[in-house]
Amino acid sequence: MLSASYLSLLGLAIAASSAQKCPLQFDARVPAGSTPFSFDLSSSPFGTQFVFGQNLSWSEIIELPNINGSLFDGTENIAIEVTLSDASIFAPSPTNIQTGFRRAELNPASNNGTDPSTLGIKTLHFSVRKDDSRPLNLTHEYQLVFLESATFSTNQFVLKTGTIAGQPTAQSSDLLVLQGNVNAPVVENLFNVTFLADTWHNFAIVLDFTANTTQVLYSQNSAALVNVTGVLSNDISGQGQFHFGALKKGTGVGLTDVTKQGFQESGINEGVIYGGIFEEISTGGCVSLSL
Ligand SMILES: *[C@@H]1O[C@H](CO)[C@@H](O)[C@H](O)[C@H]1NC(C)=O
Ligand SMILES: *[C@@H]1O[C@H](CO)[C@@H](O)[C@H](O)[C@H]1NC(C)=O
Ligand SMILES: *[C@@H]1O[C@H](CO)[C@@H](O)[C@H](O)[C@H]1NC(C)=O
Ligand SMILES: *[C@@H]1O[C@H](CO)[C@@H](O)[C@H](O)[C@H]1NC(C)=O
Ligand SMILES: *[C@@H]1O[C@H](CO)[C@@H](O)[C@H](O)[C@H]1NC(C)=O
Ligand SMILES: *[C@@H]1O[C@H](CO)[C@@H](O)[C@H](O)[C@H]1NC(C)=O
Ligand SMILES: *[C@@H]1O[C@H](CO)[C@@H](O)[C@H](O)[C@H]1NC(C)=O
Repeated sequence: MLSASYLSLLGLAIAASSAQKCPLQFDARVPAGSTPFSFDLSSSPFGTQFVFGQNLSWSEIIELPNINGSLFDGTENIAIEVTLSDASIFAPSPTNIQTGFRRAELNPASNNGTDPSTLGIKTLHFSVRKDDSRPLNLTHEYQLVFLESATFSTNQFVLKTGTIAGQPTAQSSDLLVLQGNVNAPVVENLFNVTFLADTWHNFAIVLDFTANTTQVLYSQNSAALVNVTGVLSNDISGQGQFHFGALKKGTGVGLTDVTKQGFQESGINEGVIYGGIFEEISTGGCVSLSL
């Protein structure tokens, strides 16, 4: 008896020191040894069918940049890059072809829109980074990371960059701007930071679905996360799916359907690098600040 309890305590201690301190809801970190083809297989940490160009597969979209992983990747996980090309035209159905956008976004495999990742109190972690060799066109607006509700009627939060609709024209287009619910009467900028090159931008977003609040933590490179906002009111109801990648909007004025209208230049080769994507259960205030 004594020896069995001792062993189980030891087991817990080992688990706690080799992972985050909080229980995980999903772990979409990408194990070392993965290849672009790994993202076409059902063993991928992400869904294999969405969201990307009609005639593409993930193996044609994912690149593996030769850089060190992010804050929560350790040595066991690697960075990945999500790329956009002229073929990045998503068709939710054969008759609904989103020619106004260029899109490639990963959804965590277990995050089906009505799963527990959008209930209770959860913290979403991710790190994002520029690729100097596949720059974004900052004349356009990009959504990089967002939660889209299960009815596709809103984004409860969205990390944007580029020329963001509704923002002052004098504002730099080279910011990462985290906005709250885009259907709010006034869309709030919850946090922003310059999208510095050659830098990991580490985010944790504490989502209290029981109270409709959002809190942001942030750091760069290997620094531990710190609170950069308080606990902010933000309507995060409606469940849905987390997206990680790039949704590039068209340019132009007076558009009535941004999914199909606007200008998109051809010949693009753009990318955004991600690491350390996971969600932890933050009941009782548990939030990991570093690995
Ligand atoms: C990557 O990590 C290794 C080991 O921690 C370190 O020696 C190296 O300087 C890092 N490389 C870069 C480009 O940061
Ligand atoms: C996908 O391929 C089909 C057949 O070649 C073509 O008709 C369609 O336009 C392509 N879709 C996109 C978004 O390029
Ligand atoms: C989504 O996942 C939840 C639990 O993880 C499950 O109960 C539910 O049936 C799933 N829904 C669909 C449509 O697969
Ligand atoms: C960036 O986008 C603008 C607006 O679509 C376009 O006029 C310009 O040619 C693009 N720049 C590059 C380098 O593609
Ligand atoms: C960015 O954050 C700073 C500091 O909180 C704030 O003063 C500024 O208005 C914010 N800018 C945007 C575009 O949200
Ligand atoms: C969050 O806000 C929405 C919109 O006001 C509301 O319908 C929902 O009940 C709220 N959820 C909680 C847990 O308060
Ligand atoms: C960050 O904010 C949370 C929630 O308000 C609080 O519990 C925690 O103490 C704060 N951390 C620091 C270091 O201030």
